Amino acid sequence: MSVYGLHRTAFDSCLVAVIFVASAVTVFLVFYAPSSPTVWFIPPSFSASSTIFSSTKPYLSSASPLYFPAPLDPSPSSSPAPVPNSDLIFTFQQDYQGHEPFVYTSSSSPAPAEEGDSIASDSKAPSFTAVRGNSVNGETRMQSGDAKALPSEPKAASVLTKVDEELLYAKKEIERAPIVYDDPELYAPLFRNVSTFKRSYELMERILKVYIYSDGPMPIFHTPQLKGIYSSEGWFLKLMEENQKFVVKDPSKAHLFYLAYSSRKLEEALYKPNSHDMKPLLLFLKNYVNMLSTKYPFWNRTKGADHFIVACHDWGPYTTKWHPEFRKNTIKALCNADVSEGVFVRGKDVSLPETNIRMPKKPLRDIGGKRVSQRPILAFFAGNMHGRVRPILLDYWSGKDDDMKIYGSLPSDISKKMSYIEHMKSSKYCICPMGYEVNSPRIVEAFYYECVPVIIADNFVLPFEELLDWSAFSIVIAERDIPRLKEILTGISLRRYIYLQANVKRLQKHFLWHSLPVKYDIFHMILHSIWFNRLNQINTNAQ
Ligand SMILES: *[C@@H]1O[C@H](CO)[C@@H](O)[C@H](O)[C@H]1NC(C)=O
Ligand SMILES: *[C@@H]1O[C@H](CO)[C@@H](O)[C@H](O)[C@H]1NC(C)=O
Repeated sequence: MSVYGLHRTAFDSCLVAVIFVASAVTVFLVFYAPSSPTVWFIPPSFSASSTIFSSTKPYLSSASPLYFPAPLDPSPSSSPAPVPNSDLIFTFQQDYQGHEPFVYTSSSSPAPAEEGDSIASDSKAPSFTAVRGNSVNGETRMQSGDAKALPSEPKAASVLTKVDEELLYAKKEIERAPIVYDDPELYAPLFRNVSTFKRSYELMERILKVYIYSDGPMPIFHTPQLKGIYSSEGWFLKLMEENQKFVVKDPSKAHLFYLAYSSRKLEEALYKPNSHDMKPLLLFLKNYVNMLSTKYPFWNRTKGADHFIVACHDWGPYTTKWHPEFRKNTIKALCNADVSEGVFVRGKDVSLPETNIRMPKKPLRDIGGKRVSQRPILAFFAGNMHGRVRPILLDYWSGKDDDMKIYGSLPSDISKKMSYIEHMKSSKYCICPMGYEVNSPRIVEAFYYECVPVIIADNFVLPFEELLDWSAFSIVIAERDIPRLKEILTGISLRRYIYLQANVKRLQKHFLWHSLPVKYDIFHMILHSIWFNRLNQINTNAQ
């Protein structure tokens, strides 16, 4: 008895201590946590501007229980016309009012889709007539299918479907995520809030189902390209279409709908070189979305808010602009995550890491780098001169200082002695200035070669920014601070540098492609951010 009593007492005092510590932590967080408790993951810097999130419209006001469309902006004049390339000036209208035919006829003779394309996901839509593009005399045609094959629309708008309930459940569970202090697979300092991430990831694994539309002509759709700087859209496409765990054949079970196209293939198929004309690409996507929204009931339920794309080409964001709902509501995982262009929206869209895969059979080749003591170069950059930032960088630093190895394209007498990759492995800091667009494959390369990235791209939303704490493993420098680059880098203590570099190594696994995806790898990080941001868009004050 007395022994038991003693144990109990010890246990009780332990419990009291735990409760005391927990309340102290809670009190601390209540007073010092930077973000308001209702906005559970948007950092204060951009929570205020999230109009969809802060919507106060009554719940169940429309046929889309989990979505409150913000009023469509009829004149998106605030966003400047994109100038992705100084010798490619696009002059498309943003509000295209023409009554273009449903069938897109290319004036630029697009690469014809192959007759009778078979698509990887053929078997994924048993309840619908599979529709795919046919090429007829050079026209890329998207046909409407047999409407009778479609399921009827959800009847009562005010009734939550099982899918809606699952999303609401997941969102509430994430809001009350148990606190994680130490997790063998997740290094907490890399994350804004590791508890939130861990819980959200678990729920994704348990709940999330994705439907992939089989519609769409090849090669624009269902044709992954696994090599080069646009490969992250291709890898995602391939791994998603092969996935058994998340993909469902029955769309009524889906929380998300994937438009499985490649922005790179879209450009290759429909952009006429030197035409300076992006219209065919815009029109193609507009017609595609119109076709989906007519043929299936799913688009209209949320006006595209539970649909997503994954696009790494520079033009990814611009090519969505002609379909207002597609542009505004659809979740876009974009390499070109530029908030100043008027398409990418923080908290809804996902900044897709740009990965330069040189050998698709061996995506992990060359991964790794030298120890800190064997990194003699303070800062390294080599690359072509485009965009506004790089010329300034070269102006200030090229050939000026032995610690700063800043080049245009790497001169061959230097690359013969030491390759580009060897340079990254031998440098403390790898400079990642924007090019024409804000993103650069150098950031992920820096992670691969264990170099601390120095990002210079105002307006860039960093990959997975909603989850990762970029200050733990990178340096972000404002464009105007380029003249102070060396001063800033040398001002970072060795101790701090070692911390940053060790974190880069810990972070690496979240940016690796595997032919068979593994837990917490880049495939899952991308899918998770799409899931997380979808939950961000729904309203929990429902019941
Ligand atoms: C992380 O999120 C959880 C769940 O919302 C919250 O209870 C906790 O206070 C957050 N931790 C930090 C460090 O903000
Ligand atoms: C969805 O809405 C559009 C535009 O309002 C309409 O043309 C289309 O027929 C609707 N789709 C379905 C399947 O009802």
